[in-house]
Amino acid sequence: MIAMFNTTAWNRLRYSLYAPLYDLVADRAFRRARRRALDAVDWAGGERVLIVGAGTGLDLCYLPRHIELHASDLSPAMVARFRARAESLGFDFVAREMDAERLDFPDGHFDVVIMHLILAVMPDPDRGLREAYRVLADDGQLCVMDKFQPDGHSPGPGRRALNALTSAIATDITRQAGPLLSEAGFVIEEDQPVMLGRLFRALLARKASPR
Ligand SMILES: C[S@@+](CC[C@H](N)C(=O)[O-])C[C@H]1O[C@@H](n2cnc3c(N)ncnc32)[C@H](O)[C@@H]1O
Repeated sequence: MIAMFNTTAWNRLRYSLYAPLYDLVADRAFRRARRRALDAVDWAGGERVLIVGAGTGLDLCYLPRHIELHASDLSPAMVARFRARAESLGFDFVAREMDAERLDFPDGHFDVVIMHLILAVMPDPDRGLREAYRVLADDGQLCVMDKFQPDGHSPGPGRRALNALTSAIATDITRQAGPLLSEAGFVIEEDQPVMLGRLFRALLARKASPR
């Protein structure tokens, strides 16, 4: 049932419909969480950065300017809004439509990969994280901010039932950051609660041991 609704095609359609209203929901509410997540990145200047599922570009004002910026999103409407915001902020960037489960970038290409509010949305977060691992340099940093169920807690029947609805129209509420990241080959260096208790967390991870 859940798998029937949380598909890539459905996400492309619904986020194209949500795009005009997205900032009303996700701008103000997440400002502090975004800042804390991106402040945890060790910025040296000149990094090649990829934002996966970049949406309308609400992370942009928390990024340093002297970076090589790439952004990708499934929804053309989101990419159009990202471009408009990045241009108005004066970023030099490339933004493309792309599925996070099939990134069209070479191995080891990026110093920083940002995944904010996408791991709980995409149908196959394992695959998305394997792709992030692949395109990240051996000493690269993965910056995640999302809602997660506490590690090691299986969702009860109530949460699973609610998830059938939330995952179809918004987001999965049963995913666990620790197992997802470690399974993909990452080690978590920082894990901070950033909103609604520990529901939303900001995590900084690196490759456990480059493959
Ligand atoms: C909740 S929004 C988050 C947007 C942005 N990262 C932010 O923090 O505001 C989820 C975004 O992921 C995009 N998305 C969903 N599935 C995707 C996929 N498989 N590949 C790339 N983008 C995807 C949606 O189009 C949407 O822009």
